[in-house]
Amino acid sequence: GTPVPITLTVNGQTRRLTLDPRVTLLDALREKVGLTGTKKGCDHGQCGACTVHVGGVRLNACLTLAVMHDGEEVTTIEGLGTPDDLHPMQAAFVECDGFQCGYCTPGQIMSALGTLDELERGIPSHVTADLEDVQYSDDEVRERMSGNLCRCAAYPNIIAAVRGVHE
Ligand code: FES
Repeated sequence: GTPVPITLTVNGQTRRLTLDPRVTLLDALREKVGLTGTKKGCDHGQCGACTVHVGGVRLNACLTLAVMHDGEEVTTIEGLGTPDDLHPMQAAFVECDGFQCGYCTPGQIMSALGTLDELERGIPSHVTADLEDVQYSDDEVRERMSGNLCRCAAYPNIIAAVRGVHE
């Protein structure tokens, strides 16, 4: 298609891009903005490696077109901590060995933050409509993180990291 101009605020910085309307948000971030922390695993919404926050809500960047987010705020893994000053969730993943090869980790961390935010805001999941009792149970966290696959199967440590940040 004919390239169109859009503006994204990525990790607090204004980015003016001109891109084909068929370009996914994932490809725009990686190839146009140059932030490659957001990973492409499946490119079909199956693995969660591409999870970012748009307007404070997590989503799979491979499943949405960049042009649909003109004017919106995007946060990627690069918008969290730095190696010298890790975000608490990043620190929890290190502390709990929440990764092995690390490929899924940016998506896991963005999704984990989305999970905690949803829990805090009382957004129901499939596990429970009543958050009072099982608010931060392992099952609840597991359910909410189920869209993020880890081929190294570091799942117990990932759950421990998410739980550890909360506690
Ligand atoms: Fe988007 Fe797998 S790359 S869900």
